[in-house]
Amino acid sequence: MRNVHDLIERNTGLMVVLILIVISFGALVEITPLMFQRQTTEPVEGLKPYTALQLEGRDIYIREGCVGCHSQMIRPFRSETERYGHYSVAGETVWEHPFLWGSKRTGPDLARVGGRYSDDWHRVHLMDPRAVVPESNMPAFPWLAENTLDGELTAKKMEVFRDFGVPYTDEDIAGAREAVKGKTEMEALIAYLQSLGTALK
Ligand code: HEC
Repeated sequence: MRNVHDLIERNTGLMVVLILIVISFGALVEITPLMFQRQTTEPVEGLKPYTALQLEGRDIYIREGCVGCHSQMIRPFRSETERYGHYSVAGETVWEHPFLWGSKRTGPDLARVGGRYSDDWHRVHLMDPRAVVPESNMPAFPWLAENTLDGELTAKKMEVFRDFGVPYTDEDIAGAREAVKGKTEMEALIAYLQSLGTALK
C-alpha cells in the first residue's frame, strides 16, 4: 500500500488524472441519471401549450420585468407547499423557452397563482396594487389597459415554439392573429397569470 502512495505522490501527472476521475465521479453520479429520466423531459399529464393570448401575456410579463420580483418555482419545503401548493416539477416547464423560474422574491411566488384570484382582482391589482393590498410595494402597470395587441407576430412566435418542440397545431397557428388582435395587454397578461400552475393539481 505504502508503495502505491509513493508512486502517486511522486508522479504529478498520474495524480492529476486520478483527482479528475474522483471529481468527475461525483458529477457523473448526479448528471447521468438525469439523461435517462423521462420526468425531466416529458410534460406532466394535462399540460397544455399556452394559447395565443397567454403567449402574448407571457411576453408582457417578460417585458415588464415581473420576473425580477416574482419567482415561479415552488421548492419542496413545507413552508412553501403550505403557502403556494404542490412544489414545482420539471415536467411543468418543459415547453418554457426561456423558463421564468426567477431567483428573487420581492413579491410572492406565482408558479400556481392561476385560478387563485378572479380576473377582476388582477385587473384592479395591476392598475393599482394598493387598491387591494394596502401595504403592497408592487408598481402599478396602468398602461397595460390602454395598449392593444395587433397579433402581427403571434403566429410567428408560435412557429418558433413549435420548432422547439411545443405541440402547436396548424390551426392554433392559423388562428393566432384573430385570437389576439384588438385585445389589451392587460387581458393577455391576466390570461397568462390565470394559466400558471394549473396543469398539476
Ligand atoms: C418591485 C417588485 C414587483 C414587481 C416588479 C412586480 N411585482 Fe407583483 N408583487 C410584488 C409584491 C411585493 C407583491 C405582494 C403584495 C401585493 O399583493 O401587491 C406582489 C403581488 C403580486 C401578485 C399577487 C400574488 C399573490 O399570490 O397574492 C400578482 C399576481 C403579481 N404580483 C403579479 C405581478 C405581475 C404580473 C408583474 C409584472 C407586470 C408584477 N407582479 C411585478 C412585487 C412586485
